[in-house]
Formats: sequence, structure tokens, C-alpha cells
Amino acid sequence: MNQAHVHKVLTLQHKTQDAEALFEQRLAANLGFIQRLFFKLYGQPEHVPYFDALLERLSELFKGRPKALKKLDVERVKAGNWYQSEQIVGMQLYVEHFDKDLKGLHQKLPYFEELGVNFLHLMPLMTRPSGESDGGYAVNSYHKVDSKYGTQKDLLDLTQAMRAKGMYLMLDFVVNHTSEEYPWAKKALKGVKKYQDYYYMYADDTLPKEFEKSLPEVFPETSPGNFTYQSEIDRWVMTVFNHYQWDLNYTNPEVFLEMLSNLMDMVNLGVDFVRFDALAFLWKKMGTISQNLPEAHELVQLFRMSLQVIAPGTILLAEAIVAPRDILKYFGEGHMQGNECEVAYNASLMALLWNSIATKKTLLLQKTLERIPDKPKECTWLNYVRCHDDIGLGYDDQLIEEIGWNPFMHRKFLLDYYCQRLQWSPATGLLFMYNPKTGDGRITGSAASLLGLEKALKEKHLPKIQTAIAKITLLHGIIMAYGGIPMLYAGDEIATLNDYSFLKEADKKEDGRWVNRPKQNWKVLEEPRNKKKPQITVFESLKALISLRKKHPVFADSNPKVLHYSGNDHLLVFERIDDEGSGILVLANFDEVPQAVEAGWMTKLGYLNEGKAKDLISGKSYTMSSGLLELEPYQLMWLAKS
Ligand code: GLC
Repeated sequence: MNQAHVHKVLTLQHKTQDAEALFEQRLAANLGFIQRLFFKLYGQPEHVPYFDALLERLSELFKGRPKALKKLDVERVKAGNWYQSEQIVGMQLYVEHFDKDLKGLHQKLPYFEELGVNFLHLMPLMTRPSGESDGGYAVNSYHKVDSKYGTQKDLLDLTQAMRAKGMYLMLDFVVNHTSEEYPWAKKALKGVKKYQDYYYMYADDTLPKEFEKSLPEVFPETSPGNFTYQSEIDRWVMTVFNHYQWDLNYTNPEVFLEMLSNLMDMVNLGVDFVRFDALAFLWKKMGTISQNLPEAHELVQLFRMSLQVIAPGTILLAEAIVAPRDILKYFGEGHMQGNECEVAYNASLMALLWNSIATKKTLLLQKTLERIPDKPKECTWLNYVRCHDDIGLGYDDQLIEEIGWNPFMHRKFLLDYYCQRLQWSPATGLLFMYNPKTGDGRITGSAASLLGLEKALKEKHLPKIQTAIAKITLLHGIIMAYGGIPMLYAGDEIATLNDYSFLKEADKKEDGRWVNRPKQNWKVLEEPRNKKKPQITVFESLKALISLRKKHPVFADSNPKVLHYSGNDHLLVFERIDDEGSGILVLANFDEVPQAVEAGWMTKLGYLNEGKAKDLISGKSYTMSSGLLELEPYQLMWLAKS
């Protein structure tokens, strides 16, 4: 062995030892938390051996973590709140609809670079049942890539290429349920008791009936009820989502241990962000709605603290599409603040933006933002306009009432406005999961169609087309500036309309969410880019907004956001500021006519210089001779401090 080689080997040993030593340190630092959480959930004497098993599992799983990722973990821990950077802009996409498979996606990485997107959320990629699979959210495996996307190697090649480009990857961890074809479910169906105990399984329907008294229905039209009878074994199994998605029984500590291993198998593929799917549902208790229970939070914290020891560079995203006050709790409360999920979907902002579009007013948005406590400083929102799911009307009823609206009637108005029940409405959405028992319903459709582009194009009405484009830009400009990670939904950057082809597919036609899971229209991007085309106008505007965001570190989520009330109910106004005195004032007009705002207070804040305001988006300077700043219909301004 030559000297250089000896040195290399020694350095490597040293580095590995370092990683080991750091692991031991992290374990020592977090052991108290882990122990407390574990015994809170699993407090019976028979649970004690499982705690020892967990400790063993942690070190086993750490050993299995690839070296390159261990190194990245250490760098990220040093970098602190790296996920709050203004440089991160995401896109969510279905690999098969984007460019066929993982290899196709790999080739399209330059597209994201052009747009400025450096964070990808790939929709479920793992094996799933061949018929209905809830778009892959019924999983047959947590780490085996489904052959329709390519191979494991294709995924590893992609994650490696993304890392080399400084891009981040998010995958779903479907933590609440497996498919009915998952190996555990299959064994349960063969009568193996051990695996029947991995699910909520009952010999008759007495307990299921008791549960049903308080459990709401997620998919009342297609999968009513929360239990499914399994004739092979004469048992009832809990299936809160679809009948083929079996809820995991986390009261069994073995399930937690096995799911932790499954999580690591997935994370070790090179996943930076884990989307914790449907995490509000993780714990069930008779007599409750079995959502957002304290135990569900403790369980997520136990996953988080375990990851903190094994793979601390991994970030958790809470997919909790629940009431505004309940979402916040997924950041952790009290002494666990910041120790649950670092990121959460800002479902409240999303739903309130859609409310503001329909009402042309920002009253409910403003009121909710004022009333809901701020997120913890180290945590971050994932802000989005649309995603693959429906839009739920998760508003705070009390706040609706304070405005003077009737919550029931208001929700009805929104469903009517978006779901083609009002002739004058520009929106072409579909009503999703309307429940006549409760009057609840949700909305689905693409951003462009919901914002009027589909109808305007059909009518060949140029001003309406322009209005729809302005609305698309407005909503996206807000999520770029709001604070947190903006996540585009693939297709929205080129104003993709509803895709009705799902109606012809047997395993999709019942699920209206497919109307907004379109194939990427490469034609429109590959043809000479005609700026007169709405798709290209939207593409160029969003690209410009992304680039502008990245030029202004004040947009980093470590900097605060200050909400202002402008005195005009059609406007949303907030400010981003940093310690060095930089600031950007965001003004958004939700009305179809111009709206004005008194400008004096802007002078005090430093946004007017000799009666002039400089808008970064249009590049224009506005002179306010009358003392009023006027915004065009659906105009968005980012005013710079002068
Ligand atoms: C999440 C997903 C949704 C899926 C559900 C069940 O809410 O976003 O698409 O149907 O979980 O896994």
C-alpha cells in the first residue's frame, strides 16, 4: 500500500468514525425525547422490549444509510434552516404525464433550470395494484419503483444528477395506509394473526359500527363508510380512504418499527423532503373523528426524532389538509415546537386565495391571516395554488360569520361559482365528493380553467383571456412572495386546461381529481414561442417572477412577513422585510375593476420617493399625483423600497 493510499484509507476511516461519533451524539441528545414519546404512545409493560428494539433499529438503519447521504446530512445540519431559502422553488408532477418515465424526466432537467425550478415533488413512483390505486397512493411497496416508471437504477441516476445540479427531491411516504396487495395485507388475508394486527381488523361489525358513529367520510361518493368486509377471512378492516387502502394500526409498536424501516428505505434513495401523506389520520380513537389526535402528533414526532438521529438532513412536509388552526399544530407545539414537521402545506392560504377570487374581496383572507397565530420561526410553509387533489373549503366558520356571511350559504356560493352552476361565473370546475347528507362538497379543476381561461378561449374573447392570464399570474406571484417554498403544479406554468380524458378510463372516471392531472403539453413549448399564446405569456410571466424572487433574499422565509390593512377590501397587502432594512411591499388586486389605495402610509414605510413607487414586476415607476396608487384589475405589484 503506498503512502497516498494509506492516507486516503485513514482519512476515510476518520470520516466514517466522525459520522459514527456524530450519530452517537445525536442519539444521546435526542434519546430523552424519543423515550418519552415512545412510552407515551406505548405505555404497557409488554411494550418495553419494543423500545430496546427501536434503539437497535436506529443504529442498524444508520449503518444502512449511504455514505454520500450521511455526508449531506452533516452539511445540512451545519447549514441550519437551508429549506427557508428564497432560492428554492418547487414543482409537483406525475412522472408518467410529464415525459413518460424517469429517463424522460431526467432528460427534461434543463427545462426546470430554464424555469428556475430546483425542487421536484414526484408523485408516487412505487409499485401499486394494477387497477385502481388512488394514483399510486395505494402502495404495494415503499421502495420498489413501479416498472412503468423504469428501474431503481433510473431513480438513483436521477437523484444523483439532481444532487449534482443542487436540486432537491420530494417523494411521498404513504404513512397512513398500504394497499390491499401489500405483503402484510396479503398475509393478513391468509389468516396470519401477526399481520392482521398490523391493521384495524375486526371479527364482526360491532366495533366498526361504533366507529362509524363519529368518523366522517373522505370519499363519500366512491368509497362510503370507513370499513370494508373481507369475505376470505370474514373480517372487517378499516379503510378510511378507498376500500383498497387499509389503515395501518399504529397502536401496535411493531408497525411503527417496520414503517420506520420503510421510511428509511425510501429516504436512502436520495430523498431530501418526505411528504408525510394524510398524517392527520394516523391515530384512531372510538368516539372521535380520528383526525389530528394528540397521539397522531406524538407519532409524527417519534418519526421526526428518529430521523433526526439517523438522517438529520431529511425534511418532513405535513400533508394535513385540515382547519387553519389545526394545520399549525403539525409544526409541533410547546416544547416540541419545531420538532414535528419543518414544512406544512399552506392549505389555508390556498383555499383563501380561491375564496378571494370568487368573492373579489380579501376580507376572509385578511381576517384569517390576522387571527391565526404565526408559524414558528424555524418552520416553513409550502405555498401552492393548485395540486393533484381537490380544493376543500376549510375555512373558519366563526370568521365567516364575523364578516356577516352565513357559512353554509357561503360554501354553497363557492361550489356554485366554481362548479358551473352560475351562468355568469368564468370558472369551469367540477364538483367533487358532494355529500348531500352534510351539504359539503369540494372543487376540482385546473388553475387555468378555474380562473376562466377555458371559457374565455371557447368564447374567443380576448379581454377575458387576458383577465384569466392576469389571475393566474396574480395567484402565483403571491405564493412566490408570501414566505416559504412556492410549489408550482406541472402544467400550470403553461396554463393547462382541464383534461376530460379520465372520463373514458374505467379506473379513473369516478374520481374527478383526474381532471387536473394532465399530460404535459410539450408541443406548445417546443414550437417557436409565440408570445401571443396565453400558454407562453403565462410561462414567461412565471419564469420572470421566479427569477425576481431569487434576486431578492428578503423573500427568504427566515425574514418576517408583515400584513397590512390598506383600507380597501379588494386588496391583499403584505410586506417582506429583513434586518438590513430591505423590504418589498406586495399589493394584489382581486377585483375585476381597478382599485386604488391611499399612498401616504407607504411613504412612511419607505416605498414612495417623491411621490413615485417602483414596481419590480412591471419594471414601471408609478407617479401618484393624486395621493392614490391605482392597481389594474388583478394586478400584482412588488414595490421596492426606495
Ligand atoms: C393524500 C393525497 C391524496 C390521496 C390521499 C390518500 O391526501 O394527496 O391524493 O388520495 O392522501 O392517500
